[in-house]
Amino acid sequence: MCGIVGAVGKVKNFPKFILEGLASLDYRGYDSAGASFLKENHEFACYKVVGTVDDLKKIVPNKIDALSSIGHTRWATHGHPSINNAHPIASMNGLFNIVHNGVIENYRSLKKKLYEKSYTIKGETDTEIVANVLEYIYLKNPHSVLVAIERLMKILKGSYALAILFKDEPTKLYFAKKDSPLILAESENASFLASDPLPLIKYSQKFIDVEDGEYGYLTKNEIRLFINGKEVEKRYTERNIEFLNKDLGGYSDYMLKEIEETPQVISRLLIKYFDGHNFIFDENLLKELRNAEHVTFLACGTSYHAAIVGERYFRLLGKRSDTYIASEWAYEPIFSNNNQIFILISQSGETADLIKCQKIINNRGMVNIAITNTIASTLDREATFTLYLEAGLEVAVASTKAFSAQVTLLALLVSSLFNNTSVIESLHSLNNVLLSIINRKEEIEDIANEIYKFNLIFFIGRGSDYIAAKEASLKMKEITYIHSEAFPGGELKHGPIALVDNKTALFAFDSDTKTDLAIRNNAKEVETRRGHIYIISIKELYKDGDAFNVNFVSPNLSVIPMVYVSQYLAYYVAKKKKVNIDKPRNLAKSVTVE
Ligand code: AGP
Ligand code: GLU
Repeated sequence: MCGIVGAVGKVKNFPKFILEGLASLDYRGYDSAGASFLKENHEFACYKVVGTVDDLKKIVPNKIDALSSIGHTRWATHGHPSINNAHPIASMNGLFNIVHNGVIENYRSLKKKLYEKSYTIKGETDTEIVANVLEYIYLKNPHSVLVAIERLMKILKGSYALAILFKDEPTKLYFAKKDSPLILAESENASFLASDPLPLIKYSQKFIDVEDGEYGYLTKNEIRLFINGKEVEKRYTERNIEFLNKDLGGYSDYMLKEIEETPQVISRLLIKYFDGHNFIFDENLLKELRNAEHVTFLACGTSYHAAIVGERYFRLLGKRSDTYIASEWAYEPIFSNNNQIFILISQSGETADLIKCQKIINNRGMVNIAITNTIASTLDREATFTLYLEAGLEVAVASTKAFSAQVTLLALLVSSLFNNTSVIESLHSLNNVLLSIINRKEEIEDIANEIYKFNLIFFIGRGSDYIAAKEASLKMKEITYIHSEAFPGGELKHGPIALVDNKTALFAFDSDTKTDLAIRNNAKEVETRRGHIYIISIKELYKDGDAFNVNFVSPNLSVIPMVYVSQYLAYYVAKKKKVNIDKPRNLAKSVTVE
């Protein structure tokens, strides 16, 4: 996934720019971090750590007289986190230092060719192969790095955003892009690049989104872009970056802060999409949705769970609807007819698997609606219509407020199709339910203190409670590292119950009168086998011995409070286990590689 950043020209303080930039990109990975500074005397000063940008800060000098610089925060795809595999990566003869976001699919065959040319490879990354192939091409015809990059791009298969420093030209910063995001910006006497606008907003409000196949270079006062040997015009886009508050506001972790911001987010959505009398959605979008015979949702992870809720909403209204995990659909796209419409959900708007689907849909000229939290993200830019989540910056890797925002927005959208304004009242009371859960969070902490030593945690539910169970289980495993699975209540006895022993906890969500008895029976079956059961019910279905209960909300929204409880639960288990809550191991916030 990796975050890259670079600058050339008169930058007041290169280390500060790079380190601050990387800190804002660490949601893209934090396996290792590194920076390279190219000085007037053509020498590189390169610093790398296995660890985070905070660790890098400790070894980079406060001041370095450089003419250009690149930095990287890594989410390892090829090669375990080590100094050799940390970027920037130098080519064998030291001509180039490069940073890379993406995956080079044909790196094995290229590596073989490099060995045949007696190249020595120090690490295991695909990126080192890129650095050396570039150097090899350049040394064969040492006239122009630009031409060498153009040739390199013809050879490479896979995805890449590359920032390249060339020893002999410290006043230039080269770049190339295919299928990984890259943004350029300029200010007086300096030019910049980065994976996203966050590191650059201090310096410019105008950005150039580099397109696939483009490459070029930056100098202190020019940006030149090329495609297939021909220069292309620069296209600027303005970014109005709101809600980018990274302040912890007195909280110990972003995850807790973000869980507790959820009621405000729901209120913001209510204001944005309802004017007090009518829904405010683009009429053309509503027309497309009304005419559609088939609504297909695509998403990954938590957003996938929100998508299943959306699918359910459309199905309950009698509209054909289905949901696919984006990485699956991308390899087996399913089209029904021309009246099919796609809804693509993504907090970041940069999830590679989903962007791949969007390209397939756009190539067929079909309508797609993006639901995203990130203005001007790739998903937003390429969508036919976009609906914004208004959730504000979500920093913690575990998605929390964005999930509730996605479900809220879907409920508003579907209600607007039928002008069913009763949803507004339900959302207001939902907010009260969430506030009462916030007030009782210590009770959830007590449960967490009981279960944090268990080896296995099951979540079960039926209907929409099953969707809540899936999201609860994802949250639990991703931040606590306890193995967790979710099942529809009835499925347990078809196999999974074999795993139950006295180190198993089972959480059953019970928000539906119709399935109340059935789900309780499923829980009982686990208790009979010495598992520890915790029933999370709505007040109306509460029975003695239930672990927690929430006030009733409209059945179509009950997934939100159930998931809300589970977010606190995972949070407190992780807290008790003293692990890094906001940056769980092996993960990254934005999954920009396939
Ligand atoms: C959520 O807690 C996860 N970290 C992850 O599953 C995430 O939801 C998924 O990667 C999708 O991200 P997106 O919404 O930015 O597309
Ligand atoms: N493939 C490169 C590596 O593993 C870049 C990874 C990425 O962008 O996630 O170092």
